[in-house]
Amino acid sequence: MATVGALRTLPYEWYTDPAVLRLEQQRLFARSWQYAARLDQVVEPGQLTTAWAGTLPVVLARARDGELRGFVNVCRHRGHVLCEGDARRETIQCPYHAWTYALDGSLRSAPRADREPGFDPEVLGLLPVSAEAWGPFVFVNPDREPEPLLDALGELPALLAAGGIDIDALRFHARAESDEYACNWKVCAENFLECYHCAVAHPSLTKAIDVSPDAYGLEIRDRLSTQVGPPRNGGGGVYDAEGEVERGQFHLLFPATVVNVMPGRPNLSIGPIVPRGAERTYRFLDYFVGPGADDEWLADYLALDDAVGAEDRRLVETVQRGIASGGLESGVLMPESEKLIAHFQSLVVEALGTADEV
Ligand code: FES
Ligand SMILES: [Fe+2]
Repeated sequence: MATVGALRTLPYEWYTDPAVLRLEQQRLFARSWQYAARLDQVVEPGQLTTAWAGTLPVVLARARDGELRGFVNVCRHRGHVLCEGDARRETIQCPYHAWTYALDGSLRSAPRADREPGFDPEVLGLLPVSAEAWGPFVFVNPDREPEPLLDALGELPALLAAGGIDIDALRFHARAESDEYACNWKVCAENFLECYHCAVAHPSLTKAIDVSPDAYGLEIRDRLSTQVGPPRNGGGGVYDAEGEVERGQFHLLFPATVVNVMPGRPNLSIGPIVPRGAERTYRFLDYFVGPGADDEWLADYLALDDAVGAEDRRLVETVQRGIASGGLESGVLMPESEKLIAHFQSLVVEALGTADEV
């Protein structure tokens, strides 16, 4: 049996094996809330947008009745993906054979269905998933009877409010999307969960935020893992030490939603870590800022985030090459500096069952 003790990482096979990703989808992503989209993308009747819940493609739709609904974004006929990106429509029509669904998911028409005696549109509606908004953010959960989103968020709303972020006052600025990462989604999550690498790998971030172990906090609250970092004296330029937001907050809501707040002026970025295969990962971040954010500050803030993102890309892709090489069965964790990773890995093991089953 592959043991997962306090010091061992997960077995490296778990980062390359498509069978493990299938289990993660079934036992983890299929039962979890994940950030999907912004509320402004689906606020008016007829608006649609697409998202992911792990590997599951999802379409979110605001129907005429005002209800926000989520569906598996796959045609019930022969599996064509239905929608991509944002749209405004009265119906969802499959591009393959033109089966047409209402925005409540029901199958409205299928060409030549009248020639098929046993055809029953009643049982061929889109498969629903759960969708709920929290402030300007929409989350999805494939589970049709999930715990309420607010319960799943735990202390996240309170931590943001206490840290100077009023989510309802935020204004959307831009979505930052990058090429897929050549690594397993857990490599991205684990890299996010420690700042042990920051002093080594992120010189500009380290100038701006105090990443020393005595100043930089690591906090575990059930499925919410939080890092808290104060700006360095003087704020290092980008982060205004006198601003309303005293400290940076970097959260991972298990399994795969990232929420970042930088110190200084009100700001927040949020996005999912989306597996696209055992060794491919897609990410985006929706950036929000407080009222009155000026352009110069915004440009500096985004430039630093971009630089850190590029540094992290090299790290995670190089880690994937190492762990996929077969040279080692697993690695070790530093129990203090990497305690959020140890917690993350224990939640993965708990969701998947014993390592034997995998
Ligand atoms: S696969 Fe959608 S209509 Fe045929
Ligand atoms: Fe990093």
